Amino acid sequence: MVFPIVPQPSVIRSGPGTFEVTASTRIVVDNDGDAGEADAAASALVDAVAQRTGLRLQVAKEAADGDIFLHHRRADDERYTLEIGDTAHVEGSAAGLFYGVQTVRQLHTATEYGWTLPRMIIIDEPRYAYRGVMLDVARTFLDVAAVKGYIDRASSLKFNRLHLHLTDDQGWRIQIDSRPLLTELGATTSTLGRPGGFYTKEDFREIVAYAAARHMVVVPEIDLPGHTHAIGVAYPEIVEAPVMNDVLVEQARELDQPLPVAGEPYLGWGVGHSSVRIHDEVTWAFLGDVLTELAELTPGPYLHVGGDEALGTPPDDFNAFAERITALVVELGKTPMVWHETGSAVVANGTIGQYWGGIVPTDDQAAQALRFVECGGSVVMSPSDVSYLDQKYDADFPVGLDWAALIDLETAYTWEPSTIVPGLGDDAIAGVEAPLWTETVASLVELDQLFFPRAAALAEVAWSAAGSRDWESFRERVGALAPVWDAAGWGGYRPAEITWSRS
Ligand code: ACM
Repeated sequence: MVFPIVPQPSVIRSGPGTFEVTASTRIVVDNDGDAGEADAAASALVDAVAQRTGLRLQVAKEAADGDIFLHHRRADDERYTLEIGDTAHVEGSAAGLFYGVQTVRQLHTATEYGWTLPRMIIIDEPRYAYRGVMLDVARTFLDVAAVKGYIDRASSLKFNRLHLHLTDDQGWRIQIDSRPLLTELGATTSTLGRPGGFYTKEDFREIVAYAAARHMVVVPEIDLPGHTHAIGVAYPEIVEAPVMNDVLVEQARELDQPLPVAGEPYLGWGVGHSSVRIHDEVTWAFLGDVLTELAELTPGPYLHVGGDEALGTPPDDFNAFAERITALVVELGKTPMVWHETGSAVVANGTIGQYWGGIVPTDDQAAQALRFVECGGSVVMSPSDVSYLDQKYDADFPVGLDWAALIDLETAYTWEPSTIVPGLGDDAIAGVEAPLWTETVASLVELDQLFFPRAAALAEVAWSAAGSRDWESFRERVGALAPVWDAAGWGGYRPAEITWSRS
């Protein structure tokens, strides 16, 4: 029997019969003395049932047969168990309870009276501690409501990291009190002339809190030393003059896009022309101020400082920059994250590299990825030709790019993180992240087209044991999730190779 759960849980035992959730079912909470963690899971479950049925179940403290029992266990892990018999029990840590509720939400069948759940036992925990999605809010600014929508979608698939790509050539998106022009001037546009915008510190705290309530840690990124044209719109003294490269010039001509002009907002898609002035102490004072404010604003352990596609920066300068910037992040009490190119340098101890090469790495890419392990760190796997959510499914797909690959659902599903870089196995892999860049994405509706259903495939790569993953099983399970996604108002693409259940 295949149960409609994505990502696939560690252990499933099916039992005979069903458990009925009706208007008289109560949700009974046991908070293990304090914390209210079971209360939070209970309200998530109340909302999930209401979303599909209109029933708002009562939350109670005393259990009776036929109720759903949420038991909080104090632990710093993500495990949960689910036992559905005469009574339904979910037991877990705070995160575990949240994931148990997501599983129940997927598992139900809607009836005239409420929900039916199959009797069963699940014991579940993730393969990787870092299960991320990234959102590029720099190329296209997405407001707080859209980011919350993205968190809802990702957390329902048990992703637990939200990497926000807050800055790029096309815009700067986070308030920095000591450098007000970054948002006054550097945030006014998005690519192709779409509206700009930025998050105030209050907005950012709201996003962090909303994510935390869904067990997602925000990973803010300031991309450096390249992808920094927008800094120059605000503070020209910090950046070099644009350095054109052949790819950028050719792409601008083909797409009829403007070339970058120093000090003016950049609306095109080309990369590699910008750099901060690596040797100027004015730059380092600027970076110190920016990263100090961002570190203060960020409760999570990570600060991502980019490092990709610094094409105009000589290698020695790049390496010196990488060493100093990762050391600065450590000084601020955070774990540096960087794109894998930064592995050309001796980065600060513990730095996490994010691998975005292909599933067949070049020798350089492989060496750079391995370097993070030599420097006492680890690697997050985001191979661009299987995990980039902004790439098209097929050549005719109306949204997305295709420079890395066409990534259909099976391609997003059938890859194995631990066999990509020779010598980089699970002991060195922190986890998996699925990035979504926004050159072609103007709204949450378009974002959904790229996200669903591929994010479900990537969630399973990140959560489920390698040996439990099976494409034919996934096809069946993901197709059964359509009514849950419909009920939540999440659109998305429904590729024909999957049989989608009707709501
Ligand atoms: C990247 O795709 N430039 C990290």
